[in-house]
Amino acid sequence: MSSMAREAITRGEEREEDRVIQSLRPRKLADFIGQGRIKDQLQLYMEAAARRSEVLDHILLHGPPGLGKTSLAQIVAAELRVNIKLTSGPVIERPGDLAAIITNLSEGDVLFIDEIHRMRRNVEELLYPAMEDFKLDIMIGEGPSAQSLRIDVPCFTLVGATTRTGLLTSPLRDRFEVIFHLDFYSETELQEIVRRGAGILNVEITEDGALEIARRARGTPRVAHRLLKRVRDYAQVKGPQVENTKITREIAREALRMLGVDEEGLDELDLKILHTLIEKFSGGPAGLETLSAALSEEKDTVSEVYEPYLLKKGFIQRTPQGRVATEQAYRHLGFKPPAQPLTLLDEESDEG
Ligand SMILES: Nc1ncnc2c1ncn2[C@@H]1O[C@H](COP(=O)(O)OP(=O)(O)O)[C@@H](O)[C@H]1O
Ligand SMILES: [Mg+2]
Repeated sequence: MSSMAREAITRGEEREEDRVIQSLRPRKLADFIGQGRIKDQLQLYMEAAARRSEVLDHILLHGPPGLGKTSLAQIVAAELRVNIKLTSGPVIERPGDLAAIITNLSEGDVLFIDEIHRMRRNVEELLYPAMEDFKLDIMIGEGPSAQSLRIDVPCFTLVGATTRTGLLTSPLRDRFEVIFHLDFYSETELQEIVRRGAGILNVEITEDGALEIARRARGTPRVAHRLLKRVRDYAQVKGPQVENTKITREIAREALRMLGVDEEGLDELDLKILHTLIEKFSGGPAGLETLSAALSEEKDTVSEVYEPYLLKKGFIQRTPQGRVATEQAYRHLGFKPPAQPLTLLDEESDEG
């Protein structure tokens, strides 16, 4: 991996832990668990492109963090036996930086741009002709004598990743031929991911031990791996001191309780969001701005990292007036739900 790519990954806000668990990253399409529809389509498009001796079309992957976007990009490159350059939107400071990356690609390579919605406007515009016609418009010289020059670049496949397609400008979105949405994983899929992880980490795990971890992994493989590693530590230190560490359901439960991960997989910030909504805003509606300010969290973190799972689990609702805590959220935190059905709030409001 080039030093530039390495730096891009580090600065691209991938966490320390992710680098440690690189070894858990699936390398081949067959190792990638779940997302069957996406895998089938990818397989087909790769085969078709290979038969025509063409480069694979540009692919946009969107979905919450930790669901396998970076992994899929790496798998595509590995399956096509081409190189992959990894970078991320906020890291590319000037159009010249992107031009340098693209001109250094070889024919057929994969260029992965993480957080592609956070690219600067002038950088993004350089990407349009590169994606469409494999041409770059570069400026030669400065001031009045400056000239624009159109150059050919190698044919490449752009794989873009974003937490939400809605954050992309439409000219950029329109230039992707293939758009995949990654959804949260089922418990069964996560159980398989945990089992596979345990195999790689060389630790024994029972079926129900794996299920216990899967259940609390917020539908997210990255979380499943993280919990697995913490549970393994616990098992090694606090479990029965036998030759082979074994993760049983009991061990998993104890470890997860110690980690503060609750039965629904909610972590501290999830719970803080629900508590804040219920206690400070009487259950809502509270606008995203107001809510994030009350939590002292970034708006994007709340809406892109936390809310998708809370929405999926039915703990909150998004209404035009803001976020609302559901009855289920009240119950989960041990509060009595308000007498008035929460959904009425919407209809009674005379806004909009
Ligand atoms: N389908 C999957 N099967 C097995 N492991 C997965 C899968 N998807 C993601 N992972 C694991 O989860 C972690 C996060 O995946 P990553 O591709 O970095 O997610 P994203 O780029 O969407 O944030 C990686 O360690 C990877 O090994
Ligand atoms: Mg990623």
